[in-house]
Amino acid sequence: MTELPSFYDDLAGCLAEAWRRLEEGAAHQSGFHTPALATLGRDGAPRLRTVVLRGVDRAARTLRIHCDARSDKAAEIAADPRAALHAYDAKAKLQVRIEGRARLHGGDEVARAAWGASRPMSRVCYGTAPGPGTPLPAGGASVQPQDEGAVAAGFSEFRVVVLTVARLEFLYLARSGHRRALFTWNGEGQGATWLAP
Ligand SMILES: Cc1cc2nc3c(=O)[nH]c(=O)nc-3n(C[C@H](O)[C@H](O)[C@H](O)COP(=O)(O)O)c2cc1C
Repeated sequence: MTELPSFYDDLAGCLAEAWRRLEEGAAHQSGFHTPALATLGRDGAPRLRTVVLRGVDRAARTLRIHCDARSDKAAEIAADPRAALHAYDAKAKLQVRIEGRARLHGGDEVARAAWGASRPMSRVCYGTAPGPGTPLPAGGASVQPQDEGAVAAGFSEFRVVVLTVARLEFLYLARSGHRRALFTWNGEGQGATWLAP
């Protein structure tokens, strides 16, 4: 039988493992590098898409994602900050489900720092014309910025989504019994409990 991880029956250990995997996902290619981000559509229906997890701040309980100001997700977050994020790492047999509030940063210190740390190949995504989601007459009928000035101008469309975690659900799959735990943070403090898997 495979050895059980140290967090298996340790509630605080499960939370630490969730944050560790998220941090690892932001730094490297892993199951947690490209989670799915859910927002509420303007009609109240759920909207879901893959994103790159760019940064994790365990102390502040925040996750960082980048997007274009012209995208649906940006408009949806601006209209209703409630958001959820899902990540599953098949190798680690670990699923994390997060719910919280998202905040958009554009043209401020947070956006400048994230833009400064982005690679040129990432920056070109924000100077595209027309904006993301615009119907096109042909698949290739959109253009990326061609010169440095046009790439730099993309900063005006660059947005950082900072998601503050209010609820984190952890699920570890094991033959000897799955482990599911719920962690919550609200005005009254922090909650932690095991859940039936
Ligand atoms: C692997 C992968 C990573 C992606 N990363 C991002 C990302 O970090 N930010 C983003 O806005 N879109 C990203 N996308 C594109 C989105 O999934 C989505 O198609 C696009 O942003 C439009 O979403 P929206 O109309 O809901 O705003 C990624 C797609 C894939 C397949």
